[in-house]
Amino acid sequence: MARDGALYVCQSCGAVQSKWAGQCSACASWNTLVEELRAAAPPGALTPSKSARLRAGLAFETLDIETPAPPRILTGVEEFDRVCGGGVVPGSAILVGGDPGVGKSTLLLQVSAAASLRGANCAYISGEEAVEQVRARAQRMGLGHAPVKLAAETALRDIVEGLKKDRFALVVIDSIQTLWSDQHEAGPGSVTQVRAAAGELVRLAKKRGVAVILVGHVTKDGQIAGPRVVEHMVDAVLSFEGERGYPFRILRGAKNRFGATDEIGVFEMGDAGLREVKNPSALFLNEGGERAAGAAVFAGIEGSRPVLVEFQALVAPSAYGTPRRAVVGWDSGRLAMVLAVLEARCGLGFGNRDVYLNVAGGLRITEPAADLAAAAALASSALDVSLPQDCVVFGEVSLSGEVRPVSRMESRMKEAAKLGFAQALGPAAGADGFGFPVAGVARLADAVRRIGDSDFRSGRAAPVRVGAAAMKG
Ligand code: TYD
Ligand code: MG
Repeated sequence: MARDGALYVCQSCGAVQSKWAGQCSACASWNTLVEELRAAAPPGALTPSKSARLRAGLAFETLDIETPAPPRILTGVEEFDRVCGGGVVPGSAILVGGDPGVGKSTLLLQVSAAASLRGANCAYISGEEAVEQVRARAQRMGLGHAPVKLAAETALRDIVEGLKKDRFALVVIDSIQTLWSDQHEAGPGSVTQVRAAAGELVRLAKKRGVAVILVGHVTKDGQIAGPRVVEHMVDAVLSFEGERGYPFRILRGAKNRFGATDEIGVFEMGDAGLREVKNPSALFLNEGGERAAGAAVFAGIEGSRPVLVEFQALVAPSAYGTPRRAVVGWDSGRLAMVLAVLEARCGLGFGNRDVYLNVAGGLRITEPAADLAAAAALASSALDVSLPQDCVVFGEVSLSGEVRPVSRMESRMKEAAKLGFAQALGPAAGADGFGFPVAGVARLADAVRRIGDSDFRSGRAAPVRVGAAAMKG
């Protein structure tokens, strides 16, 4: 029998069990159940006084009442505001996760400083660094004059009381894993503490209309440490990512109750903190020179913005029995699929060849529209011919070898035109009327044929205006 009041909480998934076991029955992780004492109130409950609510009964509302869109706090860091859905909603809670050292503290210090310079009452509470450290960093970033209120504190009770004394618009807590509540016995960073601290701060946010931004650490496998439960409690979950060795940092929405989640914000880490990158395409393209065999520029869409990025492929004879397939920045499952289609439908053989695929600049592409760009890069390397310098590629490839139309072709081509590209290799159907010459292909085999065609490569082949010619071919 379990001791009275004792509960066993899985530190990986947050599942609560009454008995200890070696393996969590909910998520099957081993040795993650830790004894924690029962909390007084159910964790995560928004209103503590459940009985009062029961007495009052439920008051139902209708959907057709005009509610004005919530006013937003524009922090002035535009890339951040856009990922939040057009500014931060007062009274909302945002969780920002990311690997250690990726720049979460830097980003949120800049965000709170920028917002305070625009007149918002902002606080930055660090549980990891001393006030002097934060101040020194702010001064180095040229933000020493920003009227943001700094504190170094980890005691939840002191933080909450302190925040109640002033009317804050925006509060940054760095990080949620360092906070501890004296109402729970578990150590800081444990599921119970993280959940209690998040619950308390979310309540504070809703009650007092303060926007609370929580920094969350990320575990080895990329999840925000602590239970998933925290992700459910907050209104938005943003992840801050960056490849080691690249200065680019990408802020991505994973959940957002107030906006789209497919937005990205692009930053560049420099000596004076993070710089917003307004035109990411220029960043992800290899500038100048002849385009090498195996390179294809993908006209992609990230969130609401078109982004051009180079796909690089290398197909080389394999030295070992089992050929290698390695991919960076794209899904390996999709690579396997595109290779299979190239083999089965286009007559290209990869059986005894190593295949490497890389997305330049450290960007991670998830759009299906990148299929044709990856295929073009692979075919270009396999045939050892390069694509035209001024050509962008996009299109989804199906298992049957068809090239299918993708969304927002016009924005893709406009962005390409802006950066000096003059033609596209894309789906035959649907690309008509944008005033951009598109070599429309209905099947992947047609695309491979075009890549192998020296007239297409040298630009001598009159690019086809889609609609007319492509439909016939
Ligand atoms: P930090 O914001 O402390 O990361 P996190 O809070 O996510 O752990 O950023 C730390 C890294 O950023 C560190 O490796 C140094 C780098 N950095 C710069 O390159 N330039 C700068 O101006 C600052 C402030 C940090
Ligand atoms: Mg930090």
